[in-house]
Amino acid sequence: MALRILAITPQPSLISLPWHVPLDEWDDRVTVSLPRGLSRHIVRFVRLNRDVYAVKETREAIAWREYRLLRDLRRIRAPAVEPVGVVTGREARGGEELEACLVTKRLSASMPYREMFSRGVRPDTMPRLVDALAVLLTKLHLSGFFWGDCSLSNTLFRRSAGEFAAYLVDAETGELHHDLSDGQRTYDLDTAKGNLFGELLDLQAGGFLDDGVDAHRLVNGVCERYETLWGELTVAEDFTTDEMWRIEQRISRLNGLGFDVDELDIVTDWDGASVRIQPKVVDAGHHRRVLQGLTGLDVEENQARRLLNDLNSFTATLGLQQGDPAQVAHRWLTEIFEPVVAMAPPERQTPLEAAEVFHELLEHRWYLSERASQEMDLFETARDYFAHQPTAQETATVAAVEALPDSVGDPGHLVADAAETDALGR
Ligand SMILES: Nc1ncnc2c1ncn2[C@@H]1O[C@H](COP(=O)(O)OP(=O)(O)OP(=O)(O)O)[C@@H](O)[C@H]1O
Ligand SMILES: [Mg+2]
Repeated sequence: MALRILAITPQPSLISLPWHVPLDEWDDRVTVSLPRGLSRHIVRFVRLNRDVYAVKETREAIAWREYRLLRDLRRIRAPAVEPVGVVTGREARGGEELEACLVTKRLSASMPYREMFSRGVRPDTMPRLVDALAVLLTKLHLSGFFWGDCSLSNTLFRRSAGEFAAYLVDAETGELHHDLSDGQRTYDLDTAKGNLFGELLDLQAGGFLDDGVDAHRLVNGVCERYETLWGELTVAEDFTTDEMWRIEQRISRLNGLGFDVDELDIVTDWDGASVRIQPKVVDAGHHRRVLQGLTGLDVEENQARRLLNDLNSFTATLGLQQGDPAQVAHRWLTEIFEPVVAMAPPERQTPLEAAEVFHELLEHRWYLSERASQEMDLFETARDYFAHQPTAQETATVAAVEALPDSVGDPGHLVADAAETDALGR
């Protein structure tokens, strides 16, 4: 049988991987040791040139299905891992057939939740993780995606200005529809509740989660958050024609939540005395797009919101409100953002880490200013912060692996292991 690799962007070094060997026998000359979540299938990470990929061994039909769904999710810009390709026709040297593989791009700077807990997390982290999960489910439902297996294990988390941004990692059970019925949404939410409850009890049994954490309350909190957000994003609003400002207000409320409005359906009644508006919200990432348009920085939504706030205060402090926003943004980028981030340890200067560092500095400045009863300078703050803060272990390991140089003179993959990488990166 011929080995077949179908990939989105041809990645020649994919061919050099040992496809004739079962995935669980790939050794550390090929794989990169990075944290993985729980799974039924075998998953391994490999580095090809600059990027790290996740390879999952699974049945061929499932690999194709998941690949197509991930492509669809990409097309509608939903937060999910990026598909790369499917490898079929694998055969061991002895001639026996091996399962197909789905290859996805490893979501950089992401952590599975179990890994975070095994490193110890602050008590207030759990509500923020489940909150991110509720936001993810809402975004997917808005795009017409039925997940079928929403859980913490099937999600990856990235830090985002002190909060978390959640990404779908396992699309195996998903279905993409034009719109979801209330029944489909409820079913998905019920599955999420069941999975989440089990995962929380499991964390508690393993001693990773404080016994005082009320799993029931957390799970119900997810549903409430989901319902509130869903209502805010989709509900029709009625008002009289002398309250037309409510149209603007609704749009800015939606933008404030990080969503852009795709269409606004405005209907007035027969005598023109009242108006009904029904927004169609599809695109999450409002602040992210605004920041990217102004500065070229591509960061997480909450990070973007934070950076834009700082850009606004910079504009106001220097009285530049009448200036060209792109020029002001460029000044802020080159006079504030970049020089401050350049003071951070090198492994924290990647684009996503830089935004998180900037957020931490703004928090630290707030704390120092409170203590000194006066506004502290951001550069002073940075000096103080980096002198006293040990680099977070989690950030260091993940960032160091991601910052590894290209492989040289190797058939395309690199021998790397977290411990080795750590030494290289620091
Ligand atoms: N592209 C990726 N980026 C980062 N991590 C990934 C990626 N793909 C897979 N993983 C890691 O591998 C784990 C298992 O992946 P996945 O959930 O797809 O496997 P599975 O066997 O289908 O799971 P299940 O047991 O739910 O069926 C994930 O939790 C995640 O930690
Ligand atoms: Mg899974």
